[in-house]
Amino acid sequence: MRSRRNVATSGRTEQLVRIFMKNRSLILLAIILQLLLLGCSDDSQKDEENTDEPEDTGPDPEVVVEETVDELLEGLTLDQKIAQMVQARYQRVSLTDLSETCYGSVFVGGGEELVPNTPENWAKTIDTLQQAVVDNCGIPLLFGIDAVHGNAKVTGSTVFPHGIGLGAAGDEDLAQRVGRAVGIETRAAGIHWTFAPAVSVARDERWGRTYEGYAETPELNATLGAAMIRGMQGDDDLSDVGSIAATAKHYVGDGGNEDGINPGVNNFGEETMRAIHLPPYEAAVEAKVAAVMPSYHQWNRDGESIYMSIDKYTITDILRDELGFDGFVISDWDAIARVDGIETYEAENVTAAVEAGIDMAMIPEQGTGDGEDMETFMKHVEENISEEMIDEAVRRILRIKVRMDLFADDFKKAFSDESLLDQVYSEAHQALAREAVQKSLVLLKNDNDALPLKDSDDIVLAGPWADKMGAQAGGWTAGLGDGDGWQGNANSTTGQIVGETIRDAFEATNDNVTWDEDGEAFDRGDKAVVVIGEMPYAEGVGDHGADLSDWWAPNDIGPFASVYLADQPNYEILTNAIDSGVQVVLVIISGRPLIIEEAINDSVDAIVAAWLPGSRGQGVVDVLNDNDINFTGKLPHTWPATFEQIPINVNKQDDEPGLDADDATPLYPFGHGLSY
Ligand code: BGC
Ligand code: BGC
Repeated sequence: MRSRRNVATSGRTEQLVRIFMKNRSLILLAIILQLLLLGCSDDSQKDEENTDEPEDTGPDPEVVVEETVDELLEGLTLDQKIAQMVQARYQRVSLTDLSETCYGSVFVGGGEELVPNTPENWAKTIDTLQQAVVDNCGIPLLFGIDAVHGNAKVTGSTVFPHGIGLGAAGDEDLAQRVGRAVGIETRAAGIHWTFAPAVSVARDERWGRTYEGYAETPELNATLGAAMIRGMQGDDDLSDVGSIAATAKHYVGDGGNEDGINPGVNNFGEETMRAIHLPPYEAAVEAKVAAVMPSYHQWNRDGESIYMSIDKYTITDILRDELGFDGFVISDWDAIARVDGIETYEAENVTAAVEAGIDMAMIPEQGTGDGEDMETFMKHVEENISEEMIDEAVRRILRIKVRMDLFADDFKKAFSDESLLDQVYSEAHQALAREAVQKSLVLLKNDNDALPLKDSDDIVLAGPWADKMGAQAGGWTAGLGDGDGWQGNANSTTGQIVGETIRDAFEATNDNVTWDEDGEAFDRGDKAVVVIGEMPYAEGVGDHGADLSDWWAPNDIGPFASVYLADQPNYEILTNAIDSGVQVVLVIISGRPLIIEEAINDSVDAIVAAWLPGSRGQGVVDVLNDNDINFTGKLPHTWPATFEQIPINVNKQDDEPGLDADDATPLYPFGHGLSY
């Protein structure tokens, strides 16, 4: 043993000597440079020492947080710790179970609303749960919701443009201000946590979640996602009463699913994952995001498909160890059970998920609904996971609760703060939403001075989407009662979603506009403004050509979602307008670029991509009218010319499918956007 080691050592020494002799001038140069550098940095350090007497700023707040977490952890039994790792669904958990088991979190599913669906009622309801939980457990729960574009599932909240619209605006400061407003309005309803922002780099428009992310580029998703997080989390002050914990989702590469299918499989290699899909998470971690949600999709890495919810490599090695994420990881809707398509909480999947780095499991109790899934999950954790590892998971959850300052003053901040209610759809937030809409609009073409609309124009406004609040808001918005909020509902009214439609706004500001919903008499005017577009949708249902039998969907979505403009409801209103010979301004309401036939693109005079603007139809009218408000929005996605061009993206990587936008002729390129 001993002699063998000696041989090895002497062999290595010889090798080093040989290398030194061969490269000695280079090595000597390096040593001299190093010494010079050391000398400089030494001096500067001395300067600092001499001038700056360390100021006593009290204990480091992060050290205090960690000490508090240690103390809390010590006071918990093993069962209580494991319960912190569970997120129960509001509709499927009783108050007694909640307070006796001491779950770490409660959430509402995308489609669920309270009756009455007011911020006041949400605050009151959540406060009641919270009271029972703190009385019995001493650890407040985090109540989570999908506040995706405003606290939009709660009636009365300001509904901001969806991610794709903010991507078109491309304005970091605006995104941060919107995030702040969302934080305040969500917290006003007693809610502590949102499953947003989606920083999905959507690379295939067939994907029905394209609109949740900001753009097809990592850069825009990184900048705007981080700005949104800073806004929501009070610029790195989670303890502020108007802050909510944010979630960057869906980790990692959900926007790269093959054929845009949800939930699907990514087939790209690690380089592409790092170049295209990971950068927004680096930015989110830098912005101190509280939570990250792995997707329920799979990544086919080196020929082997792995579910993201059990992928230790991306969750622990990359997110935690490499990027330095210190918040907690929440699994998506039943995602742990969905691994391998099993749909139940098997020991193997639970163990794999927790060992991969999932700290909290979203358990909707979709199966039996009687608490069985939560119980099974906890049993498997207890039997298969070491207490040390459980402690680590709980530590990360408690860290966020402590950063939010939920424990101080008798749990004051765990409860709602009435004073925030005044800010829900306040004048300031209405103005902010209007500004966001103005900046999100993209002018694709404008011939024959069709726009701006002049006072002297005689205008016919047509297309039901001009007057449908639900269509302008899209998915993840308050709907007509239970169920519809998730997928959105074209027939939601201004009673469910506050604000004004494009028609309302025109009627308030213009007297040269005649409303003609179905476009029956365009020849009454000399210009037609036609507002048509997609039915609202969310995950699954919105995928091009999705098989709806797999998904719950509002009846009015029609046979299936489609990326063709010609497949959208009320398309014939547009063709009628063109046939009538008047000037035509087409305003498209959609969650993604839609395929516009060449002949139609040529025949209309102006085209505006309005995305899913939300509450303030006024923002659209502001820019269409002749005043000093101009178009500034730029395309956050390449606008394909034909269906066959999809997927088409800028900076296409070798192992991504489809076309490189630079080598093809899209209808409108990424970054395109005219102004007056
Ligand atoms: C979605 C998530 C969402 C969660 C809770 C899941 O199906 O993928 O984005 O946050 O449901 O509604
Ligand atoms: C829920 C959504 C969830 C979906 C997943 C719906 O019923 O409301 O939040 O994402 O189911 O299947």
